[in-house]
Order: sequence, then structure tokens, then C-alpha cells
Amino acid sequence: MQSVNVSSPRAPIGVFDSGIGGLSVLRALQAELPHERFVYLADTGHAPYGERGDAFVAGRALAIAGWLRARHGIKALVVACNTATAAAIARLRQQHPGLIVVGVEPALKPAVTVTRTGRIGVFATRGTLASGKFARLLQSLQGQAHFALQPCDGLAEAIERAAAEPAPGGGWTIKMKALCARYIGAVGPFGTETGQIDTLVLGCTHYVFAQDVLRNLVGPGVQLVETGAPVARHTRRLLQRANGLAPGGGASALQLFSTGDPQALQAAAARWLRAPAGPAQAVDVPMP
Ligand code: DGL
Repeated sequence: MQSVNVSSPRAPIGVFDSGIGGLSVLRALQAELPHERFVYLADTGHAPYGERGDAFVAGRALAIAGWLRARHGIKALVVACNTATAAAIARLRQQHPGLIVVGVEPALKPAVTVTRTGRIGVFATRGTLASGKFARLLQSLQGQAHFALQPCDGLAEAIERAAAEPAPGGGWTIKMKALCARYIGAVGPFGTETGQIDTLVLGCTHYVFAQDVLRNLVGPGVQLVETGAPVARHTRRLLQRANGLAPGGGASALQLFSTGDPQALQAAAARWLRAPAGPAQAVDVPMP
């Protein structure tokens, strides 16, 4: 348990992901914490994380945390990426003992509470599913449900590129839909009858943006579970405990940065976020 006291409650909260996926967490944070300022970094220039290996992803996470602290004086860091959380959360906390650090993990625990058939599908990146952190999570729930694990190679990248296509229905959108269909087919059958998977965990923050496609494939009775809202509530609790909530009455604000194409981030933010953001800026965040 971290014990932190925030000295400047008006400082922003830093949020990062390998790309646009973390916007699904940022959206929930904005709803839960309407008076806070946020700085979001999409590390698109080094994405995808899911198939890159722990050392690389941890290096990126440490570099970004350092940049967010040095350039923006953040009071809290939300790692809005399951893969980066699995690879780096312990080292981030070790290197930044004075900072509130919040991670995300595939929502297996909430899924156990909602499944009726006791069969749960888990979509995540290869990196997340191969991590020791995920193994421990799975172990802690042993005997409570059956989990069908599916590494979804290429899906985060396809979602990212589909979102950047100028018109709907382009080549990356077709590829993204085909990958969703392939992975749903690989773990199924889905449904609410005995022996069927009735709950699908979206264990990568990007997959929230393929929710409609996945919903069509699994049918209306299957529940899709993601982590945005619980992570936002947890962030609020930690800030409260550290006397670090921004004073009420202040308006929410958001700055967007990308190590790749800022326009793609800008477009995704305009489409998916509740509160408007200033123009996204390109930034270079080198490895430490
Ligand atoms: N959005 C990230 C996650 O939650 C990873 C996507 C990727 O870069 O592979 O795992």
C-alpha cells in the first residue's frame, strides 16, 4: 500500500498507453474526476507494446513516467495499459515513491462476480498473458471459474490504424473485424447456456474501442467487462487519501501528446472523449 501526500493538488494527473487505447481509461477518469487536469501521452512511436517483450515495455514506461514528472509535474500516474502495468508497475513504484501510481489489470475479479455459466473469455496481449502478474491474478481465482485465455496478436495495432483511417470501412477496419472474428471463434462458443462463455474480459485498453464489433460477434446475452470505471474510482480514492484532489469548481483540462502521429490521437480523442482537448502535440520521449 502506497502512502503518499500530494503537495500540489492542482498539479495534473499523467496518463499513458502505447496509443489510443488508454483513452478508454481517460474517459472514465474524466467522468469520475471532473475538476482535474490531465496530461495524456500516446506512445504510438513505440507501439504496439503487446508483442515487444517486458524489457522494452518497462523501458518505455520508465521513460514516460520520468518525462511526465519532469515536464508536467504530475501528482499521480495512471498506467492506462495492461501490458505496461504487467511489465513495469513494480519498478515504477520503486523509482517514484512519492508519486501515486495506478495500474490496470484484466478485469477477471469483476468477471467472476457476473458470470452465470462460470466460463469467462479473456482477450489480452501476449505480453499481459505471459506476465508473472497475470499468472498470480489467475492463481488467486483458481476454482472460481474457467478462464479461456486468448492472446490477440495484431488486434491493438489494427484498432489503432482503423481509428486513423480517413473514411469508415477501410482496409484496417476490415482487418480489425477479421481479427475479432478469428479470436472470438478461437475461444468460443459464446452464449448463456451451460458450457458457453457468457463473459468476455477486454484485457487490453484498446479493445474497448472494438466493443461494438465484439458485441455483434458474441451476441446480446454475453457481458463485456472492462476496467475504466473501477480504475477511475480507485484513482479518486488514492487522491482523496493523499489530500490530493483538485479543489472543486475548477474545470477539467486535457493536454494530449503523441510520440507518433498527433493528428491520429487528436481525431480519436475528439471521437471518444467527453471533454474537449487542446490540439495534440508531437513529442520525443527517449529511453532513459
Ligand atoms: N493498450 C495496451 C494494453 O492495455 C497495449 C496495446 C499494445 O500496444 O499492444 O495492453
